[in-house]
Amino acid sequence: MSRENSGLAGKRILVTGAGRGLGRNYALHLAKAGADVAVTDINLHSYRDFQPEADDMKNDTVVGDIQDLGRAALGYEVDATDQDGMADVMESIRSEWGGIDVLVNNVGGGSYSAGADTLPSTLPISDLRENMERNFVTTVLACQLAIPLMEQGSSIINVGSQAGEAAVEPMFSAYGSAKAAVAHYSRFLANELGPRGIRVNVVAPGYIATGRLSTVFAEMGEERIHKNVALGRIGTPAECASVIEFLAGGASRYVTGQILVVDGGALNFATSRP
Ligand SMILES: NC(=O)c1ccc[n+]([C@@H]2O[C@H](COP(=O)([O-])OP(=O)(O)OC[C@H]3O[C@@H](n4cnc5c(N)ncnc54)[C@H](O)[C@@H]3O)[C@@H](O)[C@H]2O)c1
Repeated sequence: MSRENSGLAGKRILVTGAGRGLGRNYALHLAKAGADVAVTDINLHSYRDFQPEADDMKNDTVVGDIQDLGRAALGYEVDATDQDGMADVMESIRSEWGGIDVLVNNVGGGSYSAGADTLPSTLPISDLRENMERNFVTTVLACQLAIPLMEQGSSIINVGSQAGEAAVEPMFSAYGSAKAAVAHYSRFLANELGPRGIRVNVVAPGYIATGRLSTVFAEMGEERIHKNVALGRIGTPAECASVIEFLAGGASRYVTGQILVVDGGALNFATSRP
Protein backbone atom coordinates (compact mmCIF):
# COMPACT_ATOMS: atom_id res chain seq x y z
CA MET A 1 0.00 0.00 0.00
CA SER A 2 1.55 3.33 -0.99
CA ARG A 3 1.47 6.20 1.45
CA GLU A 4 -0.68 8.20 -1.00
CA ASN A 5 -3.58 5.76 -1.06
CA SER A 6 -3.67 4.86 2.62
CA GLY A 7 -6.47 7.44 2.82
CA LEU A 8 -5.02 9.14 5.88
CA ALA A 9 -4.09 12.50 4.37
CA GLY A 10 -5.67 15.23 6.49
CA LYS A 11 -7.26 12.76 8.93
CA ARG A 12 -7.42 13.81 12.59
CA ILE A 13 -5.93 11.08 14.74
CA LEU A 14 -5.55 10.76 18.53
CA VAL A 15 -2.89 8.37 19.86
CA THR A 16 -2.81 7.81 23.63
CA GLY A 17 0.37 6.96 25.54
CA ALA A 18 2.56 8.37 22.77
CA GLY A 19 5.41 9.89 24.77
CA ARG A 20 7.64 6.97 23.77
CA GLY A 21 7.55 3.38 22.57
CA LEU A 22 4.89 2.03 20.26
CA GLY A 23 2.60 5.03 20.71
CA ARG A 24 5.28 7.46 19.58
CA ASN A 25 6.05 5.22 16.60
CA TYR A 26 2.35 5.08 15.66
CA ALA A 27 2.05 8.87 15.89
CA LEU A 28 5.05 9.47 13.63
CA HIS A 29 4.08 6.74 11.16
CA LEU A 30 0.55 8.16 10.81
CA ALA A 31 1.91 11.70 10.43
CA LYS A 32 4.17 10.46 7.63
CA ALA A 33 1.04 9.06 5.99
CA GLY A 34 -0.38 12.60 6.00
CA ALA A 35 -2.48 12.68 9.18
CA ASP A 36 -2.64 15.40 11.80
CA VAL A 37 -1.93 13.74 15.14
CA ALA A 38 -2.87 14.58 18.73
CA VAL A 39 -1.00 12.71 21.44
CA THR A 40 -1.48 12.15 25.15
CA ASP A 41 0.82 10.80 27.82
CA ILE A 42 1.00 11.00 31.59
CA ASN A 43 4.55 12.24 30.92
CA LEU A 44 5.42 13.46 27.43
CA HIS A 45 9.09 13.09 28.44
CA SER A 46 8.68 9.40 29.35
CA TYR A 47 11.25 8.55 26.65
CA ARG A 48 13.90 9.74 29.11
CA ASP A 49 13.45 6.51 31.10
CA PHE A 50 15.16 4.49 28.34
CA GLN A 51 18.31 5.63 26.55
CA PRO A 52 17.47 4.06 23.14
CA GLU A 53 14.13 5.92 23.18
CA ALA A 54 15.87 9.18 24.12
CA ASP A 55 18.42 8.68 21.33
CA ASP A 56 15.55 8.44 18.86
CA MET A 57 14.08 11.87 19.76
CA LYS A 58 14.64 14.87 17.50
CA ASN A 59 12.76 17.39 19.66
CA ASP A 60 11.81 17.83 23.31
CA THR A 61 8.60 15.81 22.81
CA VAL A 62 6.90 13.80 20.08
CA VAL A 63 4.77 16.87 19.33
CA GLY A 64 7.80 18.61 17.78
CA ASP A 65 8.75 15.44 15.90
CA ILE A 66 5.24 15.32 14.31
CA GLN A 67 5.41 19.01 13.39
CA ASP A 68 8.80 18.42 11.74
CA LEU A 69 6.95 16.10 9.35
CA GLY A 70 4.80 19.03 8.26
CA ARG A 71 1.65 17.94 10.05
CA ALA A 72 -0.41 19.64 12.75
CA ALA A 73 0.06 18.23 16.24
CA LEU A 74 -1.53 18.63 19.66
CA GLY A 75 0.03 17.35 22.88
CA TYR A 76 -1.60 16.72 26.25
CA GLU A 77 0.04 15.62 29.46
CA VAL A 78 -2.76 13.73 31.21
CA ASP A 79 -3.34 10.51 33.12
CA ALA A 80 -5.50 8.31 30.88
CA THR A 81 -7.36 7.03 33.97
CA ASP A 82 -8.46 10.60 34.83
CA GLN A 83 -12.01 10.96 33.51
CA ASP A 84 -12.16 14.76 33.81
CA GLY A 85 -8.67 15.18 32.35
CA MET A 86 -9.50 13.00 29.35
CA ALA A 87 -12.81 14.83 28.86
CA ASP A 88 -10.84 18.09 28.72
CA VAL A 89 -8.54 16.56 26.05
CA MET A 90 -11.53 15.63 23.88
CA GLU A 91 -13.08 19.08 24.31
CA SER A 92 -9.80 20.69 23.29
CA ILE A 93 -9.53 18.51 20.16
CA ARG A 94 -13.13 19.33 19.30
CA SER A 95 -12.47 23.05 19.54
CA GLU A 96 -9.11 22.84 17.66
CA TRP A 97 -9.96 20.32 14.93
CA GLY A 98 -13.73 19.80 15.10
CA GLY A 99 -13.58 16.02 15.58
CA ILE A 100 -11.59 12.78 15.56
CA ASP A 101 -11.35 10.40 12.58
CA VAL A 102 -9.14 7.75 14.20
CA LEU A 103 -8.56 6.88 17.86
CA VAL A 104 -5.57 4.68 18.70
CA ASN A 105 -5.96 3.55 22.32
CA ASN A 106 -2.34 2.62 22.86
CA VAL A 107 -1.93 3.51 26.53
CA GLY A 108 -1.22 0.51 28.72
CA GLY A 109 1.41 -2.01 29.63
CA GLY A 110 2.09 -4.50 32.38
CA SER A 111 4.03 -3.96 35.57
CA TYR A 112 6.56 -6.64 36.38
CA SER A 113 8.40 -6.34 39.68
CA ALA A 114 10.98 -8.98 40.46
CA GLY A 115 9.67 -11.55 42.91
CA ALA A 116 6.08 -10.31 42.71
CA ASP A 117 3.34 -12.92 42.98
CA THR A 118 1.77 -13.12 39.52
CA LEU A 119 0.10 -16.54 39.84
CA PRO A 120 -3.58 -16.19 38.95
CA SER A 121 -4.61 -18.10 42.10
CA THR A 122 -2.79 -15.75 44.47
CA LEU A 123 -1.83 -12.48 42.73
CA PRO A 124 -2.62 -9.40 44.82
CA ILE A 125 -5.97 -7.90 43.87
CA SER A 126 -4.32 -4.47 43.99
CA ASP A 127 -2.06 -5.56 41.07
CA LEU A 128 -5.07 -6.83 39.15
CA ARG A 129 -6.89 -3.53 39.69
CA GLU A 130 -3.84 -1.55 38.57
CA ASN A 131 -3.51 -3.56 35.35
CA MET A 132 -7.24 -3.34 34.65
CA GLU A 133 -7.22 0.43 35.18
CA ARG A 134 -4.18 1.12 33.01
CA ASN A 135 -5.15 -1.19 30.14
CA PHE A 136 -8.91 -1.77 30.15
CA VAL A 137 -10.57 1.15 31.95
CA THR A 138 -8.46 3.67 30.02
CA THR A 139 -9.58 2.06 26.75
CA VAL A 140 -13.28 2.16 27.62
CA LEU A 141 -13.02 5.73 28.88
CA ALA A 142 -11.27 7.08 25.77
CA CYS A 143 -13.72 5.27 23.48
CA GLN A 144 -16.73 6.67 25.33
CA LEU A 145 -15.32 10.20 25.24
CA ALA A 146 -14.14 10.10 21.60
CA ILE A 147 -17.21 8.50 20.00
CA PRO A 148 -19.30 11.71 20.21
CA LEU A 149 -16.54 13.39 18.13
CA MET A 150 -16.65 10.67 15.44
CA GLU A 151 -18.66 10.35 12.24
CA GLN A 152 -19.35 7.64 9.70
CA GLY A 153 -16.03 6.29 8.36
CA SER A 154 -14.17 6.77 11.63
CA SER A 155 -11.99 4.02 13.05
CA ILE A 156 -11.12 2.99 16.61
CA ILE A 157 -8.03 0.85 17.15
CA ASN A 158 -7.64 -0.56 20.64
CA VAL A 159 -4.38 -2.17 21.69
CA GLY A 160 -4.43 -5.68 23.08
CA SER A 161 -1.56 -8.15 23.44
CA GLN A 162 -0.68 -11.73 22.60
CA ALA A 163 -0.86 -12.13 26.39
CA GLY A 164 -4.58 -11.38 26.07
CA GLU A 165 -4.99 -14.18 23.50
CA ALA A 166 -3.09 -17.03 25.20
CA ALA A 167 -2.89 -17.86 28.92
CA VAL A 168 0.80 -18.45 29.42
CA GLU A 169 3.73 -16.86 31.25
CA PRO A 170 2.34 -16.36 34.80
CA MET A 171 3.94 -12.90 34.88
CA PHE A 172 1.24 -11.84 32.40
CA SER A 173 -1.81 -13.15 34.30
CA ALA A 174 -3.19 -9.77 35.45
CA TYR A 175 -2.01 -7.88 32.37
CA GLY A 176 -3.19 -10.58 29.95
CA SER A 177 -6.62 -10.69 31.60
CA ALA A 178 -6.90 -6.91 31.19
CA LYS A 179 -5.92 -7.17 27.49
CA ALA A 180 -8.45 -9.97 26.96
CA ALA A 181 -11.05 -7.58 28.34
CA VAL A 182 -9.90 -4.94 25.83
CA ALA A 183 -10.38 -7.43 22.99
CA HIS A 184 -13.84 -8.56 24.05
CA TYR A 185 -15.08 -5.04 24.81
CA SER A 186 -13.93 -4.08 21.31
CA ARG A 187 -16.08 -6.82 19.77
CA PHE A 188 -19.13 -5.51 21.66
CA LEU A 189 -18.32 -1.94 20.62
CA ALA A 190 -17.83 -2.93 16.97
CA ASN A 191 -21.28 -4.49 17.05
CA GLU A 192 -22.84 -1.36 18.52
CA LEU A 193 -21.10 1.16 16.25
CA GLY A 194 -21.24 -0.82 12.99
CA PRO A 195 -24.61 0.62 11.94
CA ARG A 196 -23.13 4.12 12.37
CA GLY A 197 -20.23 3.24 10.05
CA ILE A 198 -17.62 3.40 12.81
CA ARG A 199 -15.18 0.48 12.87
CA VAL A 200 -13.52 -0.96 15.99
CA ASN A 201 -10.55 -3.31 15.79
CA VAL A 202 -7.70 -4.47 18.02
CA VAL A 203 -4.00 -4.71 17.30
CA ALA A 204 -2.47 -7.32 19.60
CA PRO A 205 1.34 -7.07 19.49
CA GLY A 206 3.59 -9.98 20.34
CA TYR A 207 7.20 -9.47 21.41
CA ILE A 208 8.04 -5.96 20.12
CA ALA A 209 11.33 -4.24 20.94
CA THR A 210 10.41 -0.96 22.57
CA GLY A 211 12.81 0.57 25.09
CA ARG A 212 10.79 -0.68 28.06
CA LEU A 213 10.12 -4.19 26.77
CA SER A 214 13.67 -4.76 25.52
CA THR A 215 14.86 -4.81 29.12
CA VAL A 216 12.07 -7.27 30.06
CA PHE A 217 12.97 -9.51 27.08
CA ALA A 218 16.62 -9.53 28.15
CA GLU A 219 15.54 -10.78 31.60
CA MET A 220 13.28 -13.44 30.02
CA GLY A 221 16.07 -14.58 27.68
CA GLU A 222 15.92 -13.52 24.05
CA GLU A 223 16.94 -16.97 22.76
CA ARG A 224 13.90 -18.51 24.43
CA ILE A 225 11.69 -15.84 22.90
CA HIS A 226 13.14 -16.42 19.41
CA LYS A 227 12.22 -20.12 19.69
CA ASN A 228 8.61 -19.14 20.40
CA VAL A 229 8.30 -17.07 17.23
CA ALA A 230 7.82 -18.65 13.79
CA LEU A 231 9.80 -15.84 12.15
CA GLY A 232 12.53 -16.44 14.74
CA ARG A 233 12.97 -12.90 16.03
CA ILE A 234 11.50 -10.11 18.12
CA GLY A 235 9.43 -7.58 16.14
CA THR A 236 9.97 -3.87 15.62
CA PRO A 237 7.65 -0.95 16.42
CA ALA A 238 7.54 -0.13 12.68
CA GLU A 239 6.08 -3.58 11.99
CA CYS A 240 3.17 -2.79 14.33
CA ALA A 241 2.78 0.75 13.00
CA SER A 242 2.12 -0.46 9.45
CA VAL A 243 -0.76 -2.62 10.76
CA ILE A 244 -2.14 0.39 12.67
CA GLU A 245 -2.03 2.33 9.38
CA PHE A 246 -3.96 -0.48 7.65
CA LEU A 247 -6.71 -0.50 10.29
CA ALA A 248 -6.87 3.30 10.39
CA GLY A 249 -7.29 3.77 6.65
CA GLY A 250 -9.63 2.89 3.82
CA ALA A 251 -7.85 -0.36 2.91
CA SER A 252 -9.63 -1.97 5.90
CA ARG A 253 -13.02 -0.33 5.37
CA TYR A 254 -14.86 -3.71 5.56
CA VAL A 255 -12.90 -4.92 8.61
CA THR A 256 -14.41 -4.49 12.08
CA GLY A 257 -14.58 -6.42 15.34
CA GLN A 258 -11.25 -8.14 14.60
CA ILE A 259 -8.24 -8.90 16.75
CA LEU A 260 -5.16 -8.61 14.53
CA VAL A 261 -2.25 -10.32 16.25
CA VAL A 262 1.13 -8.90 15.16
CA ASP A 263 3.53 -11.45 16.63
CA GLY A 264 5.66 -12.91 13.83
CA GLY A 265 3.72 -16.15 14.27
CA ALA A 266 4.37 -16.78 17.95
CA LEU A 267 2.92 -20.21 17.29
CA ASN A 268 4.51 -21.83 20.31
CA PHE A 269 3.46 -19.09 22.69
CA ALA A 270 0.44 -21.09 23.80
CA THR A 271 2.54 -24.06 24.85
CA SER A 272 5.77 -22.42 26.01
CA ARG A 273 6.84 -22.57 29.63
CA PRO A 274 9.58 -20.57 31.36
N1 LIG B 1 6.10 -3.66 23.33
C1 LIG B 1 5.48 -4.85 23.29
O1 LIG B 1 6.12 -5.89 23.05
C2 LIG B 1 4.00 -4.94 23.52
C3 LIG B 1 3.40 -6.21 23.40
C4 LIG B 1 2.04 -6.33 23.57
C5 LIG B 1 1.28 -5.20 23.85
N2 LIG B 1 1.88 -3.98 23.99
C6 LIG B 1 1.03 -2.83 24.31
O2 LIG B 1 1.36 -1.73 23.48
C7 LIG B 1 1.17 -0.51 24.21
C8 LIG B 1 2.46 0.29 24.23
O3 LIG B 1 3.50 -0.50 24.76
P1 LIG B 1 5.00 0.05 24.86
O4 LIG B 1 5.87 -1.14 24.89
O5 LIG B 1 5.22 1.09 23.84
O6 LIG B 1 4.97 0.70 26.33
P2 LIG B 1 5.73 1.97 26.95
O7 LIG B 1 5.70 1.82 28.43
O8 LIG B 1 7.07 2.16 26.32
O9 LIG B 1 4.83 3.22 26.53
C9 LIG B 1 3.61 3.45 27.18
C10 LIG B 1 3.41 4.93 27.33
O10 LIG B 1 2.16 5.11 28.01
C11 LIG B 1 2.34 6.06 29.04
N3 LIG B 1 1.39 5.79 30.11
C12 LIG B 1 1.41 4.75 30.98
N4 LIG B 1 0.38 4.84 31.84
C13 LIG B 1 -0.29 5.97 31.49
C14 LIG B 1 -1.45 6.61 31.98
N5 LIG B 1 -2.13 6.12 33.03
N6 LIG B 1 -1.87 7.74 31.38
C15 LIG B 1 -1.21 8.25 30.33
N7 LIG B 1 -0.11 7.69 29.81
C16 LIG B 1 0.35 6.57 30.39
C17 LIG B 1 3.78 5.93 29.50
O11 LIG B 1 4.24 7.14 30.11
C18 LIG B 1 4.49 5.61 28.19
O12 LIG B 1 4.95 6.79 27.54
C19 LIG B 1 0.67 -0.92 25.60
O13 LIG B 1 -0.74 -0.91 25.62
C20 LIG B 1 1.20 -2.34 25.73
O14 LIG B 1 0.46 -3.10 26.65
C21 LIG B 1 3.23 -3.83 23.83
